[in-house]
Amino acid sequence: MRKKWKAIVLAGIGLLVAIQLIPVRRTNPPVTGDLKTPPEVRRILGASCYDCHSDETHWPFYCYVAPVSWFVVHDVHEGRGRVNFSQWNAYPESAREFLRNNVYKQVSEGEMPPWPYRLLHPSARVTAAALDVLKQWAGPAPAPGDERNPGDGDRRDR
Ligand code: HEC
Repeated sequence: MRKKWKAIVLAGIGLLVAIQLIPVRRTNPPVTGDLKTPPEVRRILGASCYDCHSDETHWPFYCYVAPVSWFVVHDVHEGRGRVNFSQWNAYPESAREFLRNNVYKQVSEGEMPPWPYRLLHPSARVTAAALDVLKQWAGPAPAPGDERNPGDGDRRDR
């Protein structure tokens, strides 16, 4: 019986080591059109959103440890696909307006930053005062079904 457990534990360790070898796309492409905003807005977005919605992601140590790294990298790529503040200038004006409005909506509803991220980065939580600043900049939440949404597509198609 003891032998069996030893084999299981060893196999588990082997698997953990092996999955570290799977390549993970931790990229930071060049910033081509960073969002221009008043500095207080930039500070809030930089502190709370840029890890997933920019090309200036800060990759802490756990982003190098599978399987955690898989989830983090997936979130960053999905986040950039939805809105990438580093390529803001490439969005048409209508999409920018929608995204700005949606920034306020997502944050005021507690959707962004996502809760696991808030747990790991308490300083990324958006305070009531910061939310006010975002509201001034971002405007009202968009109506459901708003067709200005650039969606989760690939920006290069547009
Ligand atoms: C841990 C990564 C992460 C952080 C940090 C983060 N987001 Fe997101 N965000 C995502 C992901 C993943 C999605 C797409 C899936 C979803 O909606 O949950 C998303 C979607 C969005 C969308 C929807 C875009 C659309 O399609 O309309 C907006 C707006 C947004 N985020 C704004 C923000 C803002 C503002 C912050 C900072 C206050 C922030 N996010 C912080 C990962 C993140």
